[in-house]
Amino acid sequence: MRAVIANGYGVPEVLSVQEVPKPKPKSNEILVKVKAASLNSGDVRMRALDGGDGVKGFVAKIVIRLLVGITRPKRIPGSVLAGEVVEVGDDVARFKVGDEVYAMAGFRFGAFAEYCVLPEDGTIALKPKTANFEEASTLPFGGNTAFYFLRKAGTGKGKKVLIYGSTGAVGTSAVQVAKYLGAEVTAVSGPDGMELTKQLGASTVYNYKETPLENINGKFDVVFDAVGKISKKSAAHLIAIGGHYVTVDSLDVAKEASAGLEKLSEMYDAGKLVATIDRIYDLDQIVEANHYVDSGRKKGSVVIRTA
Ligand SMILES: NC(=O)c1ccc[n+]([C@@H]2O[C@H](COP(=O)([O-])OP(=O)(O)OC[C@H]3O[C@@H](n4cnc5c(N)ncnc54)[C@H](OP(=O)(O)O)[C@@H]3O)[C@@H](O)[C@H]2O)c1
Repeated sequence: MRAVIANGYGVPEVLSVQEVPKPKPKSNEILVKVKAASLNSGDVRMRALDGGDGVKGFVAKIVIRLLVGITRPKRIPGSVLAGEVVEVGDDVARFKVGDEVYAMAGFRFGAFAEYCVLPEDGTIALKPKTANFEEASTLPFGGNTAFYFLRKAGTGKGKKVLIYGSTGAVGTSAVQVAKYLGAEVTAVSGPDGMELTKQLGASTVYNYKETPLENINGKFDVVFDAVGKISKKSAAHLIAIGGHYVTVDSLDVAKEASAGLEKLSEMYDAGKLVATIDRIYDLDQIVEANHYVDSGRKKGSVVIRTA
């Protein structure tokens, strides 16, 4: 099968598409023919061995080397995929051949390939019926992260929530998830993302190029920094008494579970969640796609089409 291989950590050019043996599922595994995989900020950070700044970044770098490979990534990259189950191990009961699924492969990786094996008890669910594979592949990364941090901060009915950075994979999901949880959503985006943010359900949108954080008025029960760009100190004037600040720029990593994907499928099929796709690339364009995600300017998600 064709798969992306990383020859080291670094710039997108460390990646190339190569022929590798097609994996064979063990008795408790499923084999998925990957149709689409999302290329997320987490993937490019892992490729570049970019753990972020300061002590947190240093610790994250060590963790990446331990999990992905000491001197170079040992596995096919890619963590989020959508595709069709084409083979199941003898002991598998949860899925059958023909199921259309989406999954978070986590630190097993392997999504940027024509086939991927996953354990039956992994983070896998039937994809939304009304989503195509490209759309489905964009939902888990941002959706899961948004649910995790918004719930952690106590987002719920009638709460006032400020989403800082509403146009990335996490931000576009966060606006929709906060709204779904019953919150009143205010958001901050760049000028190009204001219209999109409104369409996703924010009632008020500020442009960070025109309105610096200190000029925003109001108190919020939850301030969610969805791009890791604002500190708790800089947002202090916006946090209501008893309110919470949460940020993605944290060693706290959003937990993944199949139930989370099932919830996203339910929301999508009920019209409460849309996929925001910026660009779709073919597997052969993996280097170009990585350069675009590296830019930090994508709106929503970038998809790699594998079939
Ligand atoms: N802790 C966790 O579990 C966890 C999980 C997932 C992601 N993350 C982290 O979360 C961050 C966001 O992830 P992502 O996938 O959503 O990123 P992304 O899609 O690459 O974010 C790109 C978006 O960020 C916006 N942006 C850039 N600078 C901004 C600023 N100063 N203010 C407001 N918006 C800004 C850009 O809009 P403009 O071009 O208009 O500025 C662009 O639309 C990443 O650092 C990622 O590592 C953490």
